[in-house]
Amino acid sequence: MQEQPSSPARAVGVGPWDINLAGIGIALPDKRLHNNDLTAWMDTSDEWIFERTGIRERRLGGTTSGLSIEAARAALADAQVDASTIDQVILATTSPDYMLPGTAPAVAHELGLTCGAFDLQAACSGWVYGLVVANGLIQQGMNRILVIGAETLERMTDYHDRGTGILFGNGAGAAIVDRDTTGAGRLLSWDLGSNGKHIHILYSEHGGKMKMDGREVFRQAVTVMQESATASLERAGLTVDDIDLVIPHQANVRIVEAAWKRIGFSMEKTAMVLEHTGNTSAASIPLALHDALANDRIAKGDKVLFLGFGAGMTWASAIVEWNGTSG
Ligand code: ACO
Repeated sequence: MQEQPSSPARAVGVGPWDINLAGIGIALPDKRLHNNDLTAWMDTSDEWIFERTGIRERRLGGTTSGLSIEAARAALADAQVDASTIDQVILATTSPDYMLPGTAPAVAHELGLTCGAFDLQAACSGWVYGLVVANGLIQQGMNRILVIGAETLERMTDYHDRGTGILFGNGAGAAIVDRDTTGAGRLLSWDLGSNGKHIHILYSEHGGKMKMDGREVFRQAVTVMQESATASLERAGLTVDDIDLVIPHQANVRIVEAAWKRIGFSMEKTAMVLEHTGNTSAASIPLALHDALANDRIAKGDKVLFLGFGAGMTWASAIVEWNGTSG
């Protein structure tokens, strides 16, 4: 029998690829739900919630398409580019406006676009999945992709449930992801994963509210954050010390601290915004990225690690060498 040639070793997730996050924008609805507000109908306290999660308040209101459009316009303005130059819209969301159709076409329409537009459902890992997909499309010839993470989790959260009602809120973040022609901006590596064995530790049925085994989510999250961060670091040929800023999914600061103990990252090199946003699922990483940029925490040449995990379970990490030139 003829011997089959062995398949070549696949260097999946090993870059670099020339891309640039040229503009970032966010949207948060005005209405705030503070921990103290929850105590009006729930046996809890601001101290308990803040101590266990790092969250003080979350935002309510808006629609997923409305928040997406606002964040997208802000990202376009930040990059100083016109919407008409976008080749593709990717909207990562767990809470689309409708079951059918997806929300991305409505967002594209409002921006005056008829380019490809699709929703991406990978729960809280969604925006990082979107970034990796955008890179793939750029390697196939596209030049500019709008990657949005937007959620109205309010619609699937029971604010009378002590386990989930303390965590989730609404918000959106968007990035203009460009082909980089300067050689400065690069995606160095990425890692995507899932384990459907854990569907039932965090899920919502059609039209229902989220159900969660909080302790198990906590345990699994710490494990997959460590594994995915390590995979992306190894693929990029980097160590923990080479990373200038980590932007993790903003689920619970205690999860991040527990994962960092294992990996070796420090909170000083970590972007966190969940105190004032709660857990906004796919929106949380671009919200934290925007905050880090607004506070001059990222400079050209910095290596930034995005690290997401969420229901599914899914996880996703990516390391970007920052260019960030606008216009
Ligand atoms: N306020 C006050 N007390 C509370 C509350 C509350 N909101 N919730 C639970 N308690 C009490 C319980 O009654 C229990 O009391 P007892 O010891 O007297 O019986 C005690 O606190 C411990 O209860 P647990 O349910 O075990 O609480 P835990 O310590 O696990 O904390 C929490 C709950 C904060 C939800 C935690 O499990 C968690 O953060 N898990 C991760 C959740 C998460 O991040 N999910 C999203 C990630 S994925 C994604 O983003 C989609």
